[in-house]
Amino acid sequence: NTSVNQYLREHIRTVMDWPAPGVQFRDITPLLQDAKVFRVLIDAFVHRYMDPALRPDVVAGLDARGFIIGSVIAYELGVGFVPIRKKGKLPFTTVEETYELEYGSATVELHVDAVKVGHRVLLIDDLIATGGTMMAGKKLLEKLGAEVMEGAAIVDLPELGGSAKLRASGLPLFTLVNFE
Ligand code: PRP
Ligand code: HPA
Repeated sequence: NTSVNQYLREHIRTVMDWPAPGVQFRDITPLLQDAKVFRVLIDAFVHRYMDPALRPDVVAGLDARGFIIGSVIAYELGVGFVPIRKKGKLPFTTVEETYELEYGSATVELHVDAVKVGHRVLLIDDLIATGGTMMAGKKLLEKLGAEVMEGAAIVDLPELGGSAKLRASGLPLFTLVNFE
């Protein structure tokens, strides 16, 4: 629905030169702080995943902004929510996955009992840049025998190649706003 996508786009703030010179940071906080916009945002996802063919068994959210929308989407769908966290935050036994960043690397973790073998999982984050974070999340869920049925995010930055890489890996993607 193009009018919903345009409405959401107008409520994303671009901050120049943050966190580093030359970066145009796409800030999603204005989508959250206005009750009406927040509802339009969440409903855009819920509408899609309420469809019985696309309804997941569980929603997995990526640290940290994937938690904000992922948990609400799970609640509305009537399914559970599991957090994929940056290393060192989850207390129970975990599986972990390390991936490369522009400078250095990052590790994410998931509790070993977070999903069951064969579970159909919807994987949520706020934004896809290089795709490294979502790819690591997909690998963690697959290590536990789950099937990631789709990845979803508010924003895609297609020029960074992440969404193309994720799709090439076999992960269907649903995003609401593209910034070239
Ligand atoms: C941002 C964003 C995604 C990820 C996207 O999170 O929220 O999770 O980067 O980048 P990628 O596609 O290149 O992996 P960030 O690492 O800034 O963490 P935060 O949510 O804790 O701020
Ligand atoms: N916004 C939010 N998170 C991000 C961005 C951005 O522009 N780039 C990489 N992670």
